[in-house]
Amino acid sequence: MQRIKQFSIIISIFLLSFASSADNTKADTPPLIRYNSIHHPTIAPNGMVVSQNKLASQVGADILKQGGNAIDAAIATAFALAVTLPRAGNIGGGGFMMVHIEETDQQFALDYRELAPELATRDMYLDANGDVDRQKAWFTHQSAGVPGTVAGMYLAWEKWGSLKWKKLIEPAIRLADKGMSVSYDLGTNLQNRLDRLTKNPITKQYLYKKDGSAYKAGEILRQRDLAKTLKLIARKGAKGFYQGKTADLIVADMQANDGLITHADLKNYQAIIREVVSGEFSVQGAENTADNYEIVSMPPPSSGGIHIIQMLNTLEHLPLKEAGRDTAEGIHLLVEAMRVAYADRSAHLGDPDFYDVPIEFLTSEAYGKQIASDIDQAQARKSSDVAPVSIAKKESPDTTHFSVVDKFGNAVSNTYTLNFSYGSGIMVKGAGFMLNNEMDDFSSKPGVPNAYGLVGSEANSIAPNKRPLSSMTPTFVFKKNAQGGKDLFMVTGSPGGSRIITAVLQNILNATVHGLNIAESTHAPRMHHQWVPDQVFVEPGISDDTVEELEAMGHKVKKVSTMGSIQAIQVIDGYKYGAADPRRPDAEAIGH
Ligand code: GLY
Repeated sequence: MQRIKQFSIIISIFLLSFASSADNTKADTPPLIRYNSIHHPTIAPNGMVVSQNKLASQVGADILKQGGNAIDAAIATAFALAVTLPRAGNIGGGGFMMVHIEETDQQFALDYRELAPELATRDMYLDANGDVDRQKAWFTHQSAGVPGTVAGMYLAWEKWGSLKWKKLIEPAIRLADKGMSVSYDLGTNLQNRLDRLTKNPITKQYLYKKDGSAYKAGEILRQRDLAKTLKLIARKGAKGFYQGKTADLIVADMQANDGLITHADLKNYQAIIREVVSGEFSVQGAENTADNYEIVSMPPPSSGGIHIIQMLNTLEHLPLKEAGRDTAEGIHLLVEAMRVAYADRSAHLGDPDFYDVPIEFLTSEAYGKQIASDIDQAQARKSSDVAPVSIAKKESPDTTHFSVVDKFGNAVSNTYTLNFSYGSGIMVKGAGFMLNNEMDDFSSKPGVPNAYGLVGSEANSIAPNKRPLSSMTPTFVFKKNAQGGKDLFMVTGSPGGSRIITAVLQNILNATVHGLNIAESTHAPRMHHQWVPDQVFVEPGISDDTVEELEAMGHKVKKVSTMGSIQAIQVIDGYKYGAADPRRPDAEAIGH
């Protein structure tokens, strides 16, 4: 019986693809596979998990197979990444989770961003000359915010989980306790960071071999103290982290190293469910006027959702489709929209519990239209004409995103982080996990750029119990349907510090305006502009001719290496299409 069913599915897939290739223009539903493309997503009829590490994607996919929903799978994936992707997966950091519940058509924004400890002060990173002490802000116990990941996962499970909590953490415990085979990606990454990470003796002990050298591909990395910490979380829920032995270990480490986090900070930490930000977007110039979308994304303390909507509100008034993708004309329009969004970010964005962020104004259709009307379609503006210029620094960022859709149509878009690659580089003695250095996402000195070159204002200054502003942008795109409702179309997000927002924007535009499949859309070369510095960053793949044309329009162009690591899912006619970004070698989409 089972075999007959499988066989008939194969036949129908074959017939469907044959029918569509025979008459592409008439098909009401898109073909499953477009054979004229060189980029193909992973396809599955039920569920899909896409993350930056294949072991973690497999953990999530197994949970879906065992009857878990998207939220269960997301929680299991998050804990697995804390073991398999130590540079960004975490229990010592924080992040944002967007949740879509299909049955009620509701979307929720779960904020588990780190919090400034009670003892934090506005000028804590300024030296005697009033300058920002980068070493202190980046690589000390004081650079860590109160971690939010465990509280976030536990709240997600309490609200929407369907399997037992313990079951969701068991795979991560196994990977930590029994060990995992080190991949080429992890081995290379640990080797590249050896100098920085081995400065801390505890990190050296946990992530490097006894002789201090980096693990090679194929060797087994066991993380037994991390396994013990995970076991406590499995047994006691969030209390297994914020109270008792783990809390004692964190506080002892803080006290021994001039850190600020106390028992009270840990006990008082709360993840928050916030109202999502949303906006409508139509493709200008598309033959099909039914190309209408709704974007649902993360509100502050993320800046991502607001600025994605702001830029789409701007771009829908500009001839983006006509200008083409990866052309000088198309990139120019994106740059001018990005320039304004990042200028606004520097002035208006911060923790909404401390600062009244003008969400309605920034995401209004009218403001987007006004920005579009100020854009010269042939000539670059200067950032100094949009707002005052500052000098920026840059630093390699790392964060990680994963996307999940289940067979019920529920979805999770989750981005979480330690801030830098391996956060502060400091692991907690006895507890086996890495501490974030998220405090640098505050404006240590308003007006002076942080590690991502992002300038902030008082809105993002340091204060006790405040959340630092983030660029993380876990996002859903829905397609409007003929019945006046909406269907889930895309789940997307990316790491990349300040470049997250523009990577997600281009992923959405590629799939909507330019009609690319999710693999093409994710693989396509990216560009970025963030107002300050006044430079267009372009990835390999943007041609020299295009660069020359952009320069002739007045842009300063800088060729850079890769930007972002999108892990995305598209849903078409119930099929889940997963695309893992090839920019990260271990990333994988696994469906069932
Ligand atoms: N730490 C990077 C971000 O939150 O945007």
